[in-house]
Amino acid sequence: MGTRIIGTGSCLPKTVVTNDDLAKIMDTSDEWISSRTGIRERHLAKEETTTSMSVEAARRAIENVGVTAQEIDLIIVGTVSADHVTPACACEVQAEIGAYRAVAFDINAACSGFMFALNIANAYLQTGAYRTALIIGAETLSKIMDWSDRSTCVLFGDGAGAAVVRADEREGLLAFDQGTDGVKGRVLACQNRSNNNPLVKTPTELQYVHMDGQEVYRFAVTQVPASLQKTIEAAGLAVGDIDYFALHQANLRILQAVAKRLKVPEDRFPISLDHCGNISAASVPILLDEMNRKGLLKPGMKIALSGFGGGLTWASAVFQW
Ligand code: ACO
Repeated sequence: MGTRIIGTGSCLPKTVVTNDDLAKIMDTSDEWISSRTGIRERHLAKEETTTSMSVEAARRAIENVGVTAQEIDLIIVGTVSADHVTPACACEVQAEIGAYRAVAFDINAACSGFMFALNIANAYLQTGAYRTALIIGAETLSKIMDWSDRSTCVLFGDGAGAAVVRADEREGLLAFDQGTDGVKGRVLACQNRSNNNPLVKTPTELQYVHMDGQEVYRFAVTQVPASLQKTIEAAGLAVGDIDYFALHQANLRILQAVAKRLKVPEDRFPISLDHCGNISAASVPILLDEMNRKGLLKPGMKIALSGFGGGLTWASAVFQW
């Protein structure tokens, strides 16, 4: 029995903020941001929330494949920016789309969240416990950014992406690799969850994302190609057999370095970061949806996915589309 991605959807907030817009409110420039990261603009939430964007992405994924909400057995949302501690975003999505039969929960694996969710769903589908899963990566990162720290806030955006995943007789997921390095977790952190009891005062800067950009870069350009290589080999394929590499959209330089290490032309790495920025767990499913709607994904194509980031965590998958 295979596990196939049968439909995709995504949702970005209506408000677009360009690099020039940011340069009006902080000491930065389009030249600095675009030359170092490839990012030109991002969408930032005003009235949208992590749940509302998840619901819209889910509806579009369901419409894309023509399943009904009643057919969904499982909903998993990967997010670090759910609107509430409880109920989970996935529970709110279940109610909003009317998928009343589905078991629903959130997971936190930062920028690898969608990929971890996909692997959890795959495990459920392969045991036969469930047949149809809705997997979502969704973030409102703008609410956990320090907007006075130009070194981080210019990199990130808001949005959600979703995929309907189904157990199927045809092959889909060919191989998966996942890993965690908790020892290096502090290089990309948002401690938030302060203790506000009468005995403790937590500094407010812990509420925001802090990053050692160069350490994150080193982690990504070594771990991601290694994980992709391992997954491609486990799928019984060579790097040259992969039609597209749909990777977490952290930074154009990371994507270029991964392409170089794998000796793959850069045009096999589709990009959404130019107009979305880095949307953590939502990056991979938004990119996949854009590829799907542009008609890039043809039956039989081999697609490699990879997510990497906070935790530190990483995960790769190879699919036959
Ligand atoms: N605009 C203008 N100048 C800036 C900005 C900005 N937005 N941000 C920082 N600078 C300045 C700094 O103050 C510094 O100035 P100084 O030399 O006078 O002190 C200078 O630019 C260089 O700062 P660095 O932080 O050293 O910049 P670096 O060249 O390392 O680039 C970047 C930063 C792009 C984040 C880089 O480290 C990188 O590519 N990291 C990879 C990790 C990444 O992209 N993380 C994203 C999220 S993590 C994830 O999703 C996995």
